[in-house]
Amino acid sequence: MFVNNTDITAAEAFRAAVMDHMADGLYTTDNEGRVNSVNRAATEMLGWSENELMGRLPHDVVHNAPARNGHSAQDCPLALSGADGEQAGDCEDRYVRKDGSVLEVAHSVSPLHVGASVAGTVVVFRDITELKQRQCRQMQGSHDQKLEALGRLSAGLAHEINTPIQFVGDNTRFLAEAGRAMLELLLVYRECMGVDSEDQLPWEERKRRAREAEAKADIEYLAEEVPSAVEQSLEGIDRVASLVRAMKAFSYKDTKEHSYADLNEGIRTTVIVARNEVKYVADVVLDLGELPDVLCNLSDLNQVFLNLLVNAADAMPEGGKRGEIKLTTRVEGPMVVLSFADNGTGIPEEIRKTIFDPFFTTKEVGKGTGQGLALARAVCEKHGGTIEVNSEVGLGTEFVLTLPISGKRGGSA
Ligand SMILES: Nc1ncnc2c1ncn2[C@@H]1O[C@H](COP(=O)(O)OP(=O)(O)O)[C@@H](O)[C@H]1O
Ligand SMILES: [Mg+2]
Repeated sequence: MFVNNTDITAAEAFRAAVMDHMADGLYTTDNEGRVNSVNRAATEMLGWSENELMGRLPHDVVHNAPARNGHSAQDCPLALSGADGEQAGDCEDRYVRKDGSVLEVAHSVSPLHVGASVAGTVVVFRDITELKQRQCRQMQGSHDQKLEALGRLSAGLAHEINTPIQFVGDNTRFLAEAGRAMLELLLVYRECMGVDSEDQLPWEERKRRAREAEAKADIEYLAEEVPSAVEQSLEGIDRVASLVRAMKAFSYKDTKEHSYADLNEGIRTTVIVARNEVKYVADVVLDLGELPDVLCNLSDLNQVFLNLLVNAADAMPEGGKRGEIKLTTRVEGPMVVLSFADNGTGIPEEIRKTIFDPFFTTKEVGKGTGQGLALARAVCEKHGGTIEVNSEVGLGTEFVLTLPISGKRGGSA
């Protein structure tokens, strides 16, 4: 408590020192909205001196290039909130410095009450340029990773689609031939029945012609092969359709938004999409427990699942025996736990700490870029979850993801 004059001066000096030493920019305005005090951080960040700022309308100073921030004097948050006495929370904005460069800021504008009336505003702002740049780099990284994964998968996907398409084509050509043979046979039957003529063929002649035509058409063979060709073709079409559905689901909704989604379905889709990467080296075993829908960005998580699955396939020793990749999901309290376990080479102790670093890879150029696990960690953290690794050289590796069912606490996840 400050009680006498000396104390009041000490209090003022203390406040002035706090203002000058704080890292955030701070200024206050009077009830006309003109700057009446400003701290050192604000002058440093903006490039204007205290004298230059005093008595001016902040909007005229920091928003003096409207094309760069889109505010007009009428809708300026700096002017408005002071006038109507409402506080504007942590909003992002772009200020223009004295030299014309742009400063990305997060600011809050609060009315300054003296008694019952509003005597001005207090504005606190922070430079978030670096944060913005980091977010931008992260987004670029995740985009690169998607393109990389897509590039790597596309050859396999083309192959996966091509195989059924090829046998559907072969079967259809066979069915066309069979159709022609059956039609020819039908025409002989028609003739034998005398549908188009008044003359009746002798019964023996009819039988002879029918037998001859049936032998030519190989009717037993057709009876056996036609239904199975149809069945196989339908299977092939179903395979292509499910692949296309998976690809669509995989690239679905590439947005920032989070919504409730079925993670088991995401894992199944990923397994279909990555089939060609995995099927020559390992069997995939799914042990998917019953999960509630989880608040997440499924497109980002699918990307993570895909990377973990492809990493597991890559970990199978060359020329070794066929491996196994086991994907397990379960609920633990408010979280879902997803495990991707392989019996591949394992990760040596000395690099286990670095595998999550961006661009760390032990793979040859063209096979790995080292962005997968970095992205996986960033995505898990963005969801308020975690990713951990257990590994033993020669035995295998398990990645365990834990994600909150109802999204990140205290945020939009
Ligand atoms: N399941 C796994 N088994 C063994 N090593 C793994 C496994 N997953 C990841 N790694 C190691 O971690 C490194 C980084 O993985 P990642 O970030 O996905 O990049 P990339 O796959 O492009 O190399 C890999 O190069 C590999 O050495
Ligand atoms: Mg990878």
